[in-house]
Amino acid sequence: MKFHVLTFGCQMNAADSGWLGRSMAQLGWQEVPADEAQVFIVNTCSVRDKPEQKVYSLLGRLAAHLERDPAIFCAVGGCVAQQVGAGLWDRFPFVRLVFGTDGISQAPQALVRLAEEPQLRLSLLDFTQSYVERDPALPATAVSPRAFVNIMQGCDNFCTYCIVPHVRGRQKSRSSASVLAECRALAASGVKDITLLGQNVNSFGLDAGGDGMSFPQLLRAVAAMEGVSRLRFTTSHPKDLADDVIAAFGELPNLSPSLHLPVQSGSDAVLKRMGRKYTLAQYLSKVEALYGARPELSLSTDFIVGFPGETEADFRASLELIRTARFETSFSFLYSDRPGVASAKMEPKVPDDIKSWRLAELQALQNDQQQAMLNELAGSMAQVLVEGPGARRDSEEPAWKGRDEAGRVVNFAAAPSAHDLTGRIVPVRIIQAKKHSLWGEQSS
Ligand code: SAH
Ligand code: SF4
Ligand code: F3S
Repeated sequence: MKFHVLTFGCQMNAADSGWLGRSMAQLGWQEVPADEAQVFIVNTCSVRDKPEQKVYSLLGRLAAHLERDPAIFCAVGGCVAQQVGAGLWDRFPFVRLVFGTDGISQAPQALVRLAEEPQLRLSLLDFTQSYVERDPALPATAVSPRAFVNIMQGCDNFCTYCIVPHVRGRQKSRSSASVLAECRALAASGVKDITLLGQNVNSFGLDAGGDGMSFPQLLRAVAAMEGVSRLRFTTSHPKDLADDVIAAFGELPNLSPSLHLPVQSGSDAVLKRMGRKYTLAQYLSKVEALYGARPELSLSTDFIVGFPGETEADFRASLELIRTARFETSFSFLYSDRPGVASAKMEPKVPDDIKSWRLAELQALQNDQQQAMLNELAGSMAQVLVEGPGARRDSEEPAWKGRDEAGRVVNFAAAPSAHDLTGRIVPVRIIQAKKHSLWGEQSS
C-alpha cells in the first residue's frame, strides 16, 4: 500500500509520526506524495482551537482524493483523535482508524488489517496503565544526524488551561533500560544529536512506571555514551527543574547550551490562576542559576497572552520578563478555551482584539531582542552539525545548512575543497545574523 503522513503539533507528534512511517515501511508499505496515496495518516494536535479546526479542514480537503480512488481511506491519530474519538468517522466516513496516543503502538497492525478488510473500522483509544514499548523500527542507517527519543507519555500537571493531560493521559515513564538501549542504537547508527522527549521530562521516573532512575541520572547516562556529541531535552516544567539538572549544564560538555523553559506569564496573579505552582521570583532564580552554570545558555520559553482576567499590568509583567530573563526565542499564543479544562469557566475573558494587540506587542519585543542577541554572535566561532545543502545568499556556489551547539540554524559557505559535509561537525565563523538564523563561513 502507498501511504502519506501529515503531522500537526509538537515534537512528540513529529516523533510518533516518524516511528509510524518507519513501521509501515518495514511492513512493506511505501511512503509517497499525497496525490499518489491510498492511505492518509493524519497525526493531530488539540492544544488550541486553531490546530483542531485545521484537522477538520484538512480532512475535508482529503475527501476530494476519493474521486481519484473511492477505496482511499484515512487514519486519524494523536490528540484530536483522542478527544473526539469515533465522532470523527460520523463526520468523515472515509476515516477508518482513530488511534490515541497510547493506541499508536498497535496502529501498524491495524492499518494492515484495514487494507485487507475494506468494510472494517477500528478505534484504538484506550489509555494504558504503563508506557507501551513500540517495535524499534529503526532505519538501517541514520537518515538524519539528529534524533528524538521518547522517555515518557502524558502529563499529571493539569495546568488549568491545558488539554494535554486529558488527551495524552497520566504521566507514564518509559523504562530507563529501553531509553538507554534506543539511544545507544541511534548513536551506533551515526546519530550525533539526541533530544529526550516528554511533556514534563524532569519528572521522569517519578510515576508508577519509574524504575529508580531519575531524570538527572538518565541525562548523565546518555551524555556518557560514545557518539553522542549533542544532547538536549524538552519540555521542562520550571517547578520540576532540579538543581542537579541545572548543575549538569556546567558539567556535561555535550549537553547543548539551550533550554526551553515555558513560563506562560510574568505575573504571579496569572501564574496562580494557571495552576503553574511557581512564582516569578522562583522562576527567575532558576534562570539565574542556569546562566551561572552555563553563561552562553540560549533560553527559550512559551507565553500565553490573554489568559482570563489578564490585566494590562499582568501583560506588562510578561514584557518585562522577556528582558530580565534574556529569552532568545519565545513561542507565544493567544489564550484559547479548550473543552473540559478548568480555565474555560474562568472570567472575565479578554476580548479578542485586546489579546491580538498584546500578542503583536510581545512578539515585536521578542523579535527585536532575538535580533540583538544574534547580532552579538557575529565574529564568533560555532561548531555546526551539518544537516544538508543550504541556500546561498549571493551566488551559485555550494552552501550548507546545520545547527550550532545551541540549536540555532546556521547557513554557511564551505571551504573550496569540501565534499559532502552532511552529518559532520565543522567549525564555522559567524559573519552575520539573518532573521532567526545565522550566516557564516567554514573555518579550517
Ligand atoms: N508540556 C509542555 C507544553 C504543552 S503545550 C509544557 O508544559 O511546557 C505547548 C504550549 O501551548 C504551552 O506551553 C502553552 O504555552 C500553550 N498552550 C497550552 N494550552 C493552551 C491554551 N489553552 N491556549 C493557548 N495556549 C496554550
Ligand atoms: Fe499542559 Fe501543564 Fe502538562 Fe505542560 S505541564 S502539558 S502545560 S498540563
Ligand atoms: Fe498538541 Fe497533543 Fe502535542 S495537544 S502540543 S500534539 S501533546
